[in-house]
Amino acid sequence: MKVDGTPYRSIWPAANGQDAEIIDQTRLPHEFVTTSLKTLDDAARAIKDMWVRGAPLIGATAAYGMALAIRDDASDSRIAEAYDVLYATRPTAVNLRWALDDMRPRLLVLPESERRAAAWQRAAEICDEDVGINSGIGDHGLPLIEAAWERKGRSGTVNVLTHCNAGWLATVDWGTATSPIYKAFEKGIPVHVWVDETRPRNQGAGLTAWELNHHGVPHTVIVDNVGGHLMQHGQVDLCITGTDRTTAHGDVCNKIGTYLKALAAHDNGVPFYVALPSPTIDWTIGDGVREVPIEQRDATEVSQVYGRTPDGRLTTVQIVPDGSACANYAFDVTPSRLVTGLITERGVCVASADGLAGLFPDRVQSGAA
Ligand code: MRU
Repeated sequence: MKVDGTPYRSIWPAANGQDAEIIDQTRLPHEFVTTSLKTLDDAARAIKDMWVRGAPLIGATAAYGMALAIRDDASDSRIAEAYDVLYATRPTAVNLRWALDDMRPRLLVLPESERRAAAWQRAAEICDEDVGINSGIGDHGLPLIEAAWERKGRSGTVNVLTHCNAGWLATVDWGTATSPIYKAFEKGIPVHVWVDETRPRNQGAGLTAWELNHHGVPHTVIVDNVGGHLMQHGQVDLCITGTDRTTAHGDVCNKIGTYLKALAAHDNGVPFYVALPSPTIDWTIGDGVREVPIEQRDATEVSQVYGRTPDGRLTTVQIVPDGSACANYAFDVTPSRLVTGLITERGVCVASADGLAGLFPDRVQSGAA
């Protein structure tokens, strides 16, 4: 999407043909800084420390991480080491495993001399595929926004609530939850986005608001507890969130707090959609609440807040008393019964085993109990 008129992706091969370039998302929204990943360790650190984040972008970065890892040593053991290092970075988004499982066998069947070029080519393909998938999600999600506008008699604005950042910064381009929004905006539908701030790391306030702002999409940042109130007062026409892992039964794991929004939507009859690129489906598990590993991150993300002071300084401040314990659960699971539909690159389906199998009969695996 565009940053002040200039099209960007969130990751791209560097002009030197050696490195991968990313936007350092820890610096947003106050600074727009791009940086080079030169080594396996750079890629692993970028994922772990969330310079890049969002399920699809984590997968794409892992693919480039594998390419960087075998720059000087493309042996089987180096590929195994790179797999393990990258896989250990973050536990919840299944796209990480998906990308590594895609890359590894393709490389291992090749002679060592051909692996490096093949890795760069496949990483680029994974990025292009992600862009196509997310554009497809936008095409299939757009009618849901159009229908909401029709229900309002084509007057006023369509108010979409989203949580965290499932925007283009979380993918290679378009975003997942934001893709239907960007397509509606391009089509001239008056769309307005309620952006949950998404504590503790504020991906909504810092990233979703930033990208909507730079693309020109009307939006309002709200604190995480406001959504239920807005829904009670008819100010949310639909919710669209992303997902880090959706089970074969349609349970959705996404940024912490998504579940509470789904409960509020259910109670108020507000449609709750999840935008789902197929690499985010974990076909090996069924019960999301029991089976999805939930990342727990450093307590300082809860006890401290980073921001800009009125005089322009960027700084971190502590917001809890010395000595108070903080818990930092990064994701939660929304059971499929609370999800109105899954918006995929192949169409919209019911959040259920049958719904997913109907759209992806070629991917279903037996064994997801
Ligand atoms: O911890 P993050 O910022 O990686 O979490 C990201 C999310 O929860 C997104 O909603 C999800 O990855 C979907 S991205 C298209």
